[in-house]
Amino acid sequence: MQQTPCTIVKKERLIPGQTSKLVISCPHIAKKAQPGNFVILRVSAQGERIPLTIADADPEAGTITMVYLVMGKSTAHLETLEEGDALHDLCGPLGQATHIEQVGTVICVGGGTGIAAMHHIAKGHQRAGNHTVAIIGARSKNLLLFEHELKSFCDEVLIATDDGSYGHKGFVTQVLEERLKTDKTVKEVVAIGPVPMMEAVSKTTKPFGVKTTVSLNSIMVDGIGMCGACRVSVGGQVKFACVDGPEFDGHQVDFGELRQRLAAFKPQEALSFEAFKE
Ligand code: FES
Repeated sequence: MQQTPCTIVKKERLIPGQTSKLVISCPHIAKKAQPGNFVILRVSAQGERIPLTIADADPEAGTITMVYLVMGKSTAHLETLEEGDALHDLCGPLGQATHIEQVGTVICVGGGTGIAAMHHIAKGHQRAGNHTVAIIGARSKNLLLFEHELKSFCDEVLIATDDGSYGHKGFVTQVLEERLKTDKTVKEVVAIGPVPMMEAVSKTTKPFGVKTTVSLNSIMVDGIGMCGACRVSVGGQVKFACVDGPEFDGHQVDFGELRQRLAAFKPQEALSFEAFKE
């Protein structure tokens, strides 16, 4: 694990004012990063520690890619940085890498910024020789991320938008369910995105008995299993998402508890964000 100041070599505003992509120079992390790993960064010495899943890694160029949603004070502060600026520090790669083996057909479901995180995992499944199907969704076409990146290596990319402006009108779970009804070669489903989406995907796959992996975005502080902030319940057992995960069996996760814990600091987060904007 390395902790070092890292420079932003490329910044792309994917959805202006809402979602951005950063390519960061950090050769040591780029060399070791595996699909499923995440990093924790700070913009300043007093800043909050922000966990972000690695969306891509290029060991030759010595860079990693991350995508974030501006949703509070810390990500708004991150959004003020431009190409050439350096993060205060970056710690990683953290978490367990995705378990990837050649199994047949794997469906990777992504929603919102989770599509970017899912991209690295889908790439791993493709490299392992799996028939890789991506199902991605957003509220409308202009909010859809990483479509072209996924189309460059996935065997199939299926799209759903809530308003029907692109692809299937409706949710990714409807596209997934239709596929599971007709395709018995599917051996695993991976889902990354908002908690309600990952819960819905897990409910959709359960009757089909298909292994389902979700990547949990619980609140994190140290990222090394010491503080307990990222505690989740999986199969009735306490797990720490930062060291035991972040990926778990979606059929075993207590999503209700996860939702409750994620909402615990909402009022304080809102106050802090308002103060930052003034
Ligand atoms: Fe502290 Fe996981 S973030 S135990």
